[in-house]
Amino acid sequence: MCGIVGYIGDKQAYKIVIDGLKRLEYRGYDSSGIALFDSRLSVCKTKGKVEGLVNKAEKEISLDGNVGIGHTRWATHGEPNDVNAHPIISNNKSLVIVHNGIIENYATIKDELISKGYIFKSDTDTEVLVNLIEYVQLTEKVKLGKAVQLALTQVVGAYAIAVFDKKKPDEIVVARLGSPLAIGIGENEMFIGSDVTPFLNFTRKVIYLEEGQVGVLRNHKETKFYNVENDSIISPTIENLKLELSEIEKGGFDHFMLKEINEQPKAIIDTLRGRLKLNQGIIKLSGIDNNINAFTSANKITIIGCGTSWHAGLVGEYIFEHISRIPVEVEYASEFRYRNPIINQNDIVIAISQSGETADTLAAMKLAKERGAFVFGICNVVGSSITRLSHSGSYTHAGPEIGVASTKAFTTQITVLYLMALKIAKSKGVISKSVFNKYLGELNLIPKKIEIALNLNDKIEKIAEAIKDSKNCLYLGRGFNFPVALEGALKLKEISYIHAEGYPAAEMKHGPIALIDENMPTVVIATSKGHYEKVVSNIREIQSRKGKIIAIVTEGDKDVKEIADHYIEVPETIEPLTPLLTTIPLQLLSYHIAVKLGKNVDQPRNLAKSVTVE
Ligand code: G6P
Repeated sequence: MCGIVGYIGDKQAYKIVIDGLKRLEYRGYDSSGIALFDSRLSVCKTKGKVEGLVNKAEKEISLDGNVGIGHTRWATHGEPNDVNAHPIISNNKSLVIVHNGIIENYATIKDELISKGYIFKSDTDTEVLVNLIEYVQLTEKVKLGKAVQLALTQVVGAYAIAVFDKKKPDEIVVARLGSPLAIGIGENEMFIGSDVTPFLNFTRKVIYLEEGQVGVLRNHKETKFYNVENDSIISPTIENLKLELSEIEKGGFDHFMLKEINEQPKAIIDTLRGRLKLNQGIIKLSGIDNNINAFTSANKITIIGCGTSWHAGLVGEYIFEHISRIPVEVEYASEFRYRNPIINQNDIVIAISQSGETADTLAAMKLAKERGAFVFGICNVVGSSITRLSHSGSYTHAGPEIGVASTKAFTTQITVLYLMALKIAKSKGVISKSVFNKYLGELNLIPKKIEIALNLNDKIEKIAEAIKDSKNCLYLGRGFNFPVALEGALKLKEISYIHAEGYPAAEMKHGPIALIDENMPTVVIATSKGHYEKVVSNIREIQSRKGKIIAIVTEGDKDVKEIADHYIEVPETIEPLTPLLTTIPLQLLSYHIAVKLGKNVDQPRNLAKSVTVE
């Protein structure tokens, strides 16, 4: 994880770097730091968030200078303190670096450097890297760009780095392998970011540095790009950004998470735009259209992802098996990549990721490709690593998701999976025209129905008040709503730090029932479609142990409403689409509980939005 920012040009670097770091805090916020060069090098760093860095920097360092790099950290090596914070300076105090990633062979390199007289102050792998670059620069007598390229050939691991030399402050050298890095090109100025948000209000021109590339960014002079492995010069593609600044701001909401929950109707409409052709009774998905044979002849689909994206994959399993009649397995990407998975010809692997940068998902995709699978990406961030690694894919068009707890990414991922399943089912001839049209029509109604669910906000806030002091919470669902129970529990634990578990409702009696007493609330998804009577029995089992019930029911429900302590009614829809509605109250419930407990909803402790380390 970690976010890196850089600037070289005519403007004051300080403000650009600080504003950029604030936008990248979703990537980690254990510590932050900045290095500026005016006539001398100034470095300021601190444990904690960028806000603390601003207070410290304004007191302690000169804020002048047109060159700067900054870092916001999610700690991997070494506890989050001032010494381990980036930027990190080399032994001769000339080079300064920010780094996102992990240098796996840092211990070996460190020993070698120690034997050459190098001294280390921090516990970080980054200090090893900057000193390796310094060592190469001095011993090989080469310029910084070449020293970075040579040093990186000795490194095993993942990195996105920005480094400059105070003796030659007219250039910043960047490189990436495994961690993302975007370069914004302005008029006589260059911007660096772990994503494009730090420079969105300055330029629309962006280069996404590719794996294994080094760039020497210069103001007023030619910028050059090389391959790390063979030093060959490359000409990267310059892309035009479409993202608007307003899309990454809070827009009147107290938190990004609440904004993003409320954006779901629009996010789904955007995801369906140009794809759901209701009048013609067709679905257009170019990623599938161009590879339809691969999907219709697939023997098996394996879905991989992490966190919430994995939960979307679980919903996808139910959807694909129900609608397209293709066997599906869903795997944590982190397990898949180390499991020696069996991939046969005609197998398809679908990788789901909001950020498109999750290290485990990327590694799992690489493995799947090596084993001959056709790899399809479902991703939200345009141009991200996962989209570039896939053979084909579909974007979710949810817009930027900033809150660490994923919300609109989840519902738009399910929307894409549903579109895919219907389209494949039609091509395979396993769905009748009338069912296909009915399913399309129901999908078209979903954004309006989500709006109805969002209107339950005040009622949900009251329920949150009633259960906010619980220490544990159980979430139960069956069928399509079993993954929703998992996701509901994840949302609660992520942002409120209340221990929560999701279970298939029937499994409750094989363990979790032992936990139930009058202090333990159970959230039960009990929609009318989907084993309703069985869920009602589960509710009674809980109540006979004095457990409190919060039930998510379908509008017009009678039985559960009568027996539940609290109920939330969502509109009716067909069973495969119920997750898109039942998820909404669970997101709002977690949000309100976390706010009432005074937790940092958008930046929960120890978490990060984009996990670019394994
Ligand atoms: C982190 C985030 C989660 C997200 C998961 C997978 O853990 O905090 O919200 O679901 O990564 O991320 P991805 O970008 O691959 O969907």
